[in-house]
Amino acid sequence: MSMKITWLGHSAFALNVNGHPILIDPFLTGNPLAAAEPDSLDAEIIFLSHAHGDHLGDTVSIAKRTGAKVVSNWEIYTWMQEQGIENVHPQNTGGGWDHGTVHCKFTVAHHSSSFPDGRYGGNPQGFLFTVDGMRIYYAGDTDLFSDMALIGKTGIDLAFLPIGDNFTMGPADSLEAIRLIRPRMVIPMHYKTFPMIDQDGSAWGNRVSSETDTQPIVLDPGSSYTLG
Ligand code: NI
Ligand code: MN
Repeated sequence: MSMKITWLGHSAFALNVNGHPILIDPFLTGNPLAAAEPDSLDAEIIFLSHAHGDHLGDTVSIAKRTGAKVVSNWEIYTWMQEQGIENVHPQNTGGGWDHGTVHCKFTVAHHSSSFPDGRYGGNPQGFLFTVDGMRIYYAGDTDLFSDMALIGKTGIDLAFLPIGDNFTMGPADSLEAIRLIRPRMVIPMHYKTFPMIDQDGSAWGNRVSSETDTQPIVLDPGSSYTLG
């Protein structure tokens, strides 16, 4: 198994899983850290954690151009169909599905979710991906919550955690989340994009290294890490 992870800025990631391109929360247009043009990205599957504009991002245009399957909660699934996206798959909290390249289970995220026009976006989600026995937890936009320990019980190889503060947990709470999840590795997200979520990634990484057993992987926008 090989998984190349590229940070596109904010909470947007491009994954290449055994040769298959996957996007998560592809917010590029309007993202000051955007590390790619939306038109340059390939995707077979797009996972969406919630409907806020800084996550929904360029999903509609990328899905229309590539034919990628959009995986989201029921409310976003319905909205996507109204935009003319036919390759869609709905899930909801606690439910898992084998998408072929990856298995994905939806997990709780403590946040809110509405579309840019104010329409209700359903519950926000995190994702628990399983690929060839590796488990990857993408927390989405969320506060720290004690049930992260339950997610950690499954044995997490890599966690993606928000560290920006203001809209999600900040650096200190992310350290507590790492103690609950106990992942082998952690990648920070949802920071640096805007002044309200400005954080120092390398200072955070130093704290993770000195205060936990988890290896921090602090990416620059556009840089990659290969797992496996
Ligand atoms: Ni949000
Ligand atoms: Mn957000």
